Amino acid sequence: MRFFTALSLFISGAAIASALPSSSETVEANCVKPYLCCGELKTPLDSTLDPILLDLGIDAASIVGSVGLLCLIPSKALTCLNGYAIIDLNSIHRHNPSPENLSIYPYKAKSDAPYSIAENTLRAAIHIPRSFSHKRDKKIPVLLVPGTAVPAAITFYFNFGKLRRALPESELVWIDLPQASLDDIQLSAEYVAYALNYVSALTSSKIAVISWSQGALDIQWALKYWPSTRSVVNDFIAISPDFHGTIVKWLVCPLLNDLACTPSIWQQGWDANFIQALRSQGGDSAYVTTTTIYSSFDKIVRPMSGENASARLLDYRGVGVSNNHLQTICANNAAGGLYTHEGVLYNPLAWALTVDALLHDGPSNITRIDTQKICEQVLPPYLELTDMLGTEALLLVALAKILTYSPKVSGEPDIAKYAY
Ligand SMILES: *[C@@H]1O[C@H](CO)[C@@H](O)[C@H](O)[C@H]1NC(C)=O
Ligand SMILES: *[C@@H]1O[C@H](CO)[C@@H](O)[C@H](O)[C@H]1NC(C)=O
Ligand SMILES: *[C@@H]1O[C@H](CO)[C@@H](O)[C@H](O)[C@H]1NC(C)=O
Repeated sequence: MRFFTALSLFISGAAIASALPSSSETVEANCVKPYLCCGELKTPLDSTLDPILLDLGIDAASIVGSVGLLCLIPSKALTCLNGYAIIDLNSIHRHNPSPENLSIYPYKAKSDAPYSIAENTLRAAIHIPRSFSHKRDKKIPVLLVPGTAVPAAITFYFNFGKLRRALPESELVWIDLPQASLDDIQLSAEYVAYALNYVSALTSSKIAVISWSQGALDIQWALKYWPSTRSVVNDFIAISPDFHGTIVKWLVCPLLNDLACTPSIWQQGWDANFIQALRSQGGDSAYVTTTTIYSSFDKIVRPMSGENASARLLDYRGVGVSNNHLQTICANNAAGGLYTHEGVLYNPLAWALTVDALLHDGPSNITRIDTQKICEQVLPPYLELTDMLGTEALLLVALAKILTYSPKVSGEPDIAKYAY
């Protein structure tokens, strides 16, 4: 199993950092010994992991593709791998300013659900870059929320982490969810609820939130059960969200092998208790201005087209919802092409819609976008081929995180009392 070399590189951040050459060293571009040499990806773990993957029925070939591509462009490959190496993988313990006087914990509004997690822990998960400016003038604070099995810093490093190239007034912060969001989604939602109120209080302004995949469930659950968060969010932009879970049976427990059944994976089946609880009582409808962006070629979340697309939200409350299906808007054009679950993160239309939503009141509106121009692009002008490859390799990180998560569980966590 060749691609696992790269995989083991990704999981051990510290090891990568010391193993990879620094940019000042000259190396043979297509060979990072002893870990990765194109044409001979080998790892001592192979014999252990191969049978596991085989058992899981995972089609490694489709994932290997992205690593294989790395080797096709040797000079970019190192930059790419180094990209993973320099990301602060252990950024979970932050020393964020004390929330003294912010009055957001144990609750901000009486109607908020009770937190089960201590405030210090919730606060420490928020990553605020040193460059972050608390100044309100014309800045748009944006919270990035990752999806299942990939830490935020890695998820967004090759895509929306570069949003300032497109929108210099945006100020990015992100949240590191414990166990890479593989735990109970209800717990991840507590982190998100707190982060929404915290970043808003810190900046004395409303904030925007951009999610990938399960991140949208964390946010929607937070908005539903912590109503105080609704008034601090002026844009919710959901990339490849699965508001209705997925019907891809082999990806969901119990059909997915026991080895991969983590709480949040259990919770994302089409009929999962969690999904039913979330969608009940209007949870299938937006609480704040929401823009969703999704692709038919999503192999993880299905269906992703038509009226029953998992990504779609309704708008009973009239808060403003724009559901954007790439293949409908950019039909027969490059940007309406084979974008995968992770591919939407670097889709040019997704970027145009995101910037449009952030710059205007209400959700994105396709009438303001030059679709003739945007739909012809393969990548947004702010990203490079390396970013595309780096984003595609997220699935490797996800696989590693899922396999190493423990303990695996044999069923969904209970729905919290406050949700009844
Ligand atoms: C926080 O509240 C305390 C007591 O109400 C007050 O003395 C203090 O000045 C406040 N601190 C800030 C930074 O506003
Ligand atoms: C969408 O789901 C509803 C309810 O399950 C079903 O009646 C309808 O036929 C579905 N629509 C499509 C296009 O599959
Ligand atoms: C987009 O703008 C048009 C024209 O102003 C308006 O009719 C339409 O309702 C808007 N769509 C959304 C999703 O807000």
